[in-house]
Amino acid sequence: MTQFRIAPSILSADFACLGQEVSRVIEAGADLIHFDVMDNHYVPNLTFGPMVCAALKPYASVPVDVHLMVEPVDDLIQSFAAAGADIITFHPEASRHVDRSLSLIRDAGCQAGLVLNPATPVQILENVLDRLDMVLLMSVNPGFGGQSFIPHTLSKIRQVRTMLDEYQAQSGRRIALEVDGGIKIENIAEVAKAGADTFVAGSAIFGQPDYQAVIDEMRARLAAV
Ligand code: DX5
Ligand code: ZN
Repeated sequence: MTQFRIAPSILSADFACLGQEVSRVIEAGADLIHFDVMDNHYVPNLTFGPMVCAALKPYASVPVDVHLMVEPVDDLIQSFAAAGADIITFHPEASRHVDRSLSLIRDAGCQAGLVLNPATPVQILENVLDRLDMVLLMSVNPGFGGQSFIPHTLSKIRQVRTMLDEYQAQSGRRIALEVDGGIKIENIAEVAKAGADTFVAGSAIFGQPDYQAVIDEMRARLAAV
């Protein structure tokens, strides 16, 4: 049976008390903490860097999932690994040498992943599957929380699920498939049915007063898949 994981994105948390927000959402049942790094260059928004990640690390009793929306990526890979990241993903368009950047992540002791934007073709994954621990499919254009899920992503999730299943059959290694953007209670089951196993949710969780109620309901919907 698929192990589903819920990864709240602290992009939608209260930035005035991020440490408590991380603790609260873990108590509410988060499996990962999703950390959205934006540089106002690769994406038109600016968030937080490795110093904030290091400051939050003591609050994070679950793995820290760092999503780099930055260009270039290589220096920040090293900084985030040192700051306590457990998983680091980046966008292939933002690296001149994707294979090298993926190796840097693993060499630094972290799990590595590629992030595909809604318009990025999935073929880019084919030559680097051995280097991947995770694939992250964007279901919105990166840069902001609170956007609507782009429905076309569902067929892309199915396409990548098939690719990863075939890879697992021949290699024995399972690569996680995470989806990011516009995930809510109402659509999480559909996204899981398409083949995702890890779900980023920002506004759907942090936009409600009771984080546990949202996460419990998401798990109930997943249990029915
Ligand atoms: C968008 C970020 C997402 C974002 C998701 O660029 O990568 O992680 O926080 O936010 P919601 O769940 O509100 O769409
Ligand atoms: Zn993200």
